[in-house]
Amino acid sequence: MKKIMNRRQLLRTSLAAAAGSLVVPQIKAKPLYQYDKKVGIDKLRIWEELMAPPLDRSKLKARLLANENPYGPSPKARLAMMENVQYGNRYGHSQSAQLIQAISELEGVPKDHILLGPGSSDLLEKTAIVMFQNGGNIVMADPSYMSLVKTAMYFDATMKAVPLTDDHAHDLDTMEASIDDDTKLIYICNPNNPTGSITETEKLRTFCRSVSEKVPVFVDEAYIEFMEDGRSHSMVGLLSEGKNVIVCRTFSKIHGMAGLRVGYMVALPETIEMVTKLSRPNMGMNRASIMAALASMEDKEFQEMSKVKTRECREYVYENLEQMGISYIPSHTSFIIFPLATEGKGYLKNMFDHGVGVRLFNIDDAPWSRVSMGTMDEMKLFVKTLKTVLA
Ligand SMILES: Cc1ncc(COP(=O)(O)O)c(C=O)c1O
Repeated sequence: MKKIMNRRQLLRTSLAAAAGSLVVPQIKAKPLYQYDKKVGIDKLRIWEELMAPPLDRSKLKARLLANENPYGPSPKARLAMMENVQYGNRYGHSQSAQLIQAISELEGVPKDHILLGPGSSDLLEKTAIVMFQNGGNIVMADPSYMSLVKTAMYFDATMKAVPLTDDHAHDLDTMEASIDDDTKLIYICNPNNPTGSITETEKLRTFCRSVSEKVPVFVDEAYIEFMEDGRSHSMVGLLSEGKNVIVCRTFSKIHGMAGLRVGYMVALPETIEMVTKLSRPNMGMNRASIMAALASMEDKEFQEMSKVKTRECREYVYENLEQMGISYIPSHTSFIIFPLATEGKGYLKNMFDHGVGVRLFNIDDAPWSRVSMGTMDEMKLFVKTLKTVLA
């Protein structure tokens, strides 16, 4: 497929090359708007386009579309899993208790502040179900991760989507100003998906401290361990000040256990109680996965390796995008998003036809591609394919 560039894009690319640096096109700030069922979800600035058929994932040589960790599960987690398969006939209540104990020590919060889930998706969705039964609105960033919000909207919730700032951080002032009497929850994804960008930790902490007095703040920290100094950026510490924050973490990313389904929520006991009214705590958990998660928590070497290799892959992709004159949003996660100067669906199909699965997003009516960091060999295949597809 030919790379089609309009005059503005050409100018941007050549100016950037001349300046020796790349200019990331800003995701244009649009006025705050409210989701309206009559208008439809496709009016969101960010929406993953429906993949043009036929896109066959089974033939992929590089699966770079779901932010999975190619190195996991850790050797210790695999062993724990195998050793525990034989106990699959028994419920995992005491194993759940062990995992909660370990998380409590790691996060420095009492055990009654922790709820396990089969992946953090489960906890995001349950939160939406219990909080939005009677409608209300949710204040969130745009673009951001939609899982909790989509579930909330099923229950007649409306969404107040606040565009990210020019440097792709949450616009905390506008988010705070957007709170009204019907606001049930603020959703923050930090680092943010799909942009990979971060919101400054101290600013976010100050925001959470004051705003949580009015409305609970949900902070989705699925990728926090990929940041430099990782968990030091977490909002978990606010719970010991009694603040009404709800933090979600997952074993799917840094631990490489996406298919084993373990995640957890750290929140005030009242919040945990509210969510567990809906379904019994920890009943969705798989005993062998719980033991794998416990083993993985101890495998610091594996976590460090995941982080270092992910960083190496990000550097490699940046370098190649720069050589190709393609801008990108610097990422603090295991994925990178960049704008396409070509038609999106054709690009996506072409990448898939070459065996490379990536994601396509439509932001401000322009196509952006998100690529997850795989192994270095997979990233080399991605770069080679990108060059072919955009040639
Ligand atoms: C920001 C964010 N939160 C939550 C999740 C859900 O992850 P899981 O259900 O595997 O824990 C994802 C998955 O990609 C994510 O990107």
